[in-house]
Amino acid sequence: MAEKKIKIGLVGIGRAGWGMHSREIEKYQDLYEVVAAMDPDAARLTEIAKRFKGCKTYQDFDKLLADKNVELVVVANRSPEHTPYALKAAQAGKYVFVEKPIALTYDDAKKLLAASKKYPGKIFCRHNRRFESAFNHIKQIIDSGLLGEVFLIKRRCHSFQRREDWQSIIDCGGGQLNNWGPHIIDQGVQFLDCKVKEVWGDLKKVEALGDAEDHVKIVLKGESGRVYDMEISGGVLFPEPVYTVYGTKGSLLLQSEGSKIQLKLLAEKQNFKHTISSRISPPITGAFGEPETVRFEERSFDVNPDWEVDIWSIYKYLFNTIRKGEKFPVKMEEAVEVVRITQVVKDMNPKFKTPDAEFVAKLDKIEKPACACAKKACAKKAPAKKAPAKKAAKK
Ligand SMILES: NC(=O)c1ccc[n+]([C@@H]2O[C@H](COP(=O)([O-])OP(=O)(O)OC[C@H]3O[C@@H](n4cnc5c(N)ncnc54)[C@H](O)[C@@H]3O)[C@@H](O)[C@H]2O)c1
Repeated sequence: MAEKKIKIGLVGIGRAGWGMHSREIEKYQDLYEVVAAMDPDAARLTEIAKRFKGCKTYQDFDKLLADKNVELVVVANRSPEHTPYALKAAQAGKYVFVEKPIALTYDDAKKLLAASKKYPGKIFCRHNRRFESAFNHIKQIIDSGLLGEVFLIKRRCHSFQRREDWQSIIDCGGGQLNNWGPHIIDQGVQFLDCKVKEVWGDLKKVEALGDAEDHVKIVLKGESGRVYDMEISGGVLFPEPVYTVYGTKGSLLLQSEGSKIQLKLLAEKQNFKHTISSRISPPITGAFGEPETVRFEERSFDVNPDWEVDIWSIYKYLFNTIRKGEKFPVKMEEAVEVVRITQVVKDMNPKFKTPDAEFVAKLDKIEKPACACAKKACAKKAPAKKAPAKKAAKK
């Protein structure tokens, strides 16, 4: 017998709520039904009610929580609201699917972790890029040992964007560390496949029009010694390959999303001239390393992991967890580790401080629904005198 559909209350009908979640839910309409939606913007509620017939609409989150029909609350509003909304929904006895970043601070992430222990099997994190085909295929290749001992993985998300929305403004919870960071850090932690021992990060504002960082460079080193070197940047005009992987037996390259995976491997069974280094001084006319013929094997193929996934699949896994009791592939502890790393990088770059929660709450009331962040005035629009003083470099 087919399991009952999961009844969703969708919170935040923006680019993610409307453009991603709604489309994904439509794809899995045999598994889900949107029975309610919440957004302060009445016009968006009208649109969502047209899209999902019979969907109740609310401008007040408490009213959505009081709707007994809602089983799963999807938290897809702005980033600073994720932790408080997720906690409230869990306390109300709902399942929760919380967008990334699950929290803006490590302390908040730990609150979610505590809640996930208090309400086991209720809170799930939307780290949907864990289901990216390229990520999964490349991880399979690394794990297979084909490249030998993999010592460096370089991951790039390069673009050139004069970004002007709230995602470019600190007080709105913007910045690429909170935006793309959770995805690319999460992938890195998975690639390292061991405890992260060292974190180094640099944040810069390059082209975006707000005050938040649009250039993120992070280097993670795992206990195994493997290094993950990632960049997310909106200020790059010569984008580097999205993946470059170096191992002792070969290298891997994925130039861009949608291109083929390229491998260059040391050919097996070849007789090398030398098998050991010499301590004796070479002749004064000698070369720096005596040339020898090394044979390589080159392969290239489409991205097509064994584990058939795409970034929408996360909704399928969520259904199987809630209805069939299967394990959810993204653990809360893993999402919390991502926020820990984010926090370390923020602390190294205090100029790009975490927004003050009280200030953000005020901003919410003053500006929503039609925040004019895009006009560069987000922080300025809030009457400065009424807003509480911003704390410096909040943890
Ligand atoms: N996982 C992903 O792939 C992915 C992709 C895009 C965005 N996101 C995340 O989704 C979140 C939303 O991003 P977006 O680009 O859709 O933003 P957006 O500004 O386009 O949409 C936010 C929506 O929330 C509504 N809103 C504002 N205050 C609210 C409140 N208090 N309660 C409920 N709704 C409220 C706004 O009216 C708007 O409709 C961000 O945190 C972002 O990080 C995730």
